[in-house]
Amino acid sequence: MGDGLQAGGVALPPDAEAHVELGFGPEHRRAAAELYWDAFGVKLEHILAPRARGINIIERTLAPDRALVALQGDELVGLAGFSLDGRALVEITVRDIIREYGLLSSPRRLAWATLLDRNPRPHELLMDGIVVRADRRGHGIGSQLLDRVFELADEHGKRVVRLDVVDTNPAARRLYERMGFVEMKTEQVPFLRKAMGFAAATSMERTVP
Ligand SMILES: CC(C)(COP(=O)(O)OP(=O)(O)OC[C@H]1O[C@@H](n2cnc3c(N)ncnc32)[C@H](O)[C@@H]1OP(=O)(O)O)[C@@H](O)C(=O)NCCC(=O)NCCS
Repeated sequence: MGDGLQAGGVALPPDAEAHVELGFGPEHRRAAAELYWDAFGVKLEHILAPRARGINIIERTLAPDRALVALQGDELVGLAGFSLDGRALVEITVRDIIREYGLLSSPRRLAWATLLDRNPRPHELLMDGIVVRADRRGHGIGSQLLDRVFELADEHGKRVVRLDVVDTNPAARRLYERMGFVEMKTEQVPFLRKAMGFAAATSMERTVP
């Protein structure tokens, strides 16, 4: 592929109009898994490494109806995962881990997984990662996805949208603040700096109007 995406043989520029949809088809599973890994691989590595295997297991277990996706032409260029009615975009079970990695390394992997575990409260829509393809960032796609997340929360009678952002991602935090999220609490996790690259995680919320 060249600089732009191909739609009917025509290259789409990075600022081509994107449209947002709920869910994605089997043709987008692989791209969704790769995008997810590329955004969150630093956190996921301890649980799902090596990369190729991690992407495979994510691809197999993704719940397409737990993502809003941004499409330019027919290419998936962004996604926002969320947890609703007890199901999240990426839900890998103990059984999946043991089957994929065997008994020897699974306990260590599962111990890391518990660090990333979060449970939504009944009145909130909990986000499970937002990512825009690197070459498509800075053109409003992330904001578009978040606008649709707010609508979705409203449609499901949720009062709050919640997400977490780490201290090493100030650009994402700026975006969230611009979109109306406010800090609720910050957890210091200095012991994670070496392994996961961040030393604090901030929980942010935005009230659904
Ligand atoms: C955060 C992210 C989803 C934003 O998507 P986006 O399509 O670039 O967002 P928008 O174009 O709507 O907004 C851009 C804003 O995001 C910020 N931003 C974050 N990363 C950026 C990047 N790599 N390029 C351009 N802008 C970026 C900018 O500060 C910009 O703010 P501004 O409009 O006030 O200048 C995207 O940068 C991304 O996928 N990052 C990697 C994954 C990630 O960190 N996800 C968040 C985890 S909490």
